[in-house]
Amino acid sequence: MAEKVNVLLSEEEVDAKIKAIGEQISKDYAGKQVHLVCVLKGGSFFMCELAKRITVPVSLDFMSVSSYGSETKSSGVVKIVKDLDEPIKGKNVLVVEDIVDSGRTLSYLMEMLKDRGPESLRLCTLLDKPERRVVDVHVDYTGFQIPDEFVVGYGLDYDQRYRNLPYIGVISFE
Ligand code: IMP
Ligand code: MG
Repeated sequence: MAEKVNVLLSEEEVDAKIKAIGEQISKDYAGKQVHLVCVLKGGSFFMCELAKRITVPVSLDFMSVSSYGSETKSSGVVKIVKDLDEPIKGKNVLVVEDIVDSGRTLSYLMEMLKDRGPESLRLCTLLDKPERRVVDVHVDYTGFQIPDEFVVGYGLDYDQRYRNLPYIGVISFE
């Protein structure tokens, strides 16, 4: 079965949006240092581009999580595959994600990070599929709201491929 990817958001559109979000974040965090927390692997492309557009001091850390499997997925419990290297206590933490879908992963993650006592905790996502939301999660910065379609590129994968596409595309099977 051949896979086809149709462009949903072009490289120019995505880059322009990331620049705008970076400018907004720079204003909102004026006089502070922002600590970006990337959720691997999908958030990595977005976080690197975003970090380059932020003009206040930036530090970074990474974490990797996975869902506990289909039967426990509804509980929203996620497993930490790789935890942060450094404590976030007292830091202005901004979680950077590729997409908020059901919201299960992020709502769990945000609660867990909140318990570690950051000075502030916000969420930034490149994409949001609001129609798919099951668990309420507050998003502070959103790149694009998109329809309920499976997208790839800019960090998002299908079967671990297509993360490197410089645009967001909808995958179809022929
Ligand atoms: P949720 O919000 O807990 O349902 O999970 C979001 C995660 O599911 C994201 O971080 C992605 O890894 C994955 N995901 C959701 N929608 C898509 C998509 O359209 N393409 C690729 N991955 C997706
Ligand atoms: Mg992800």
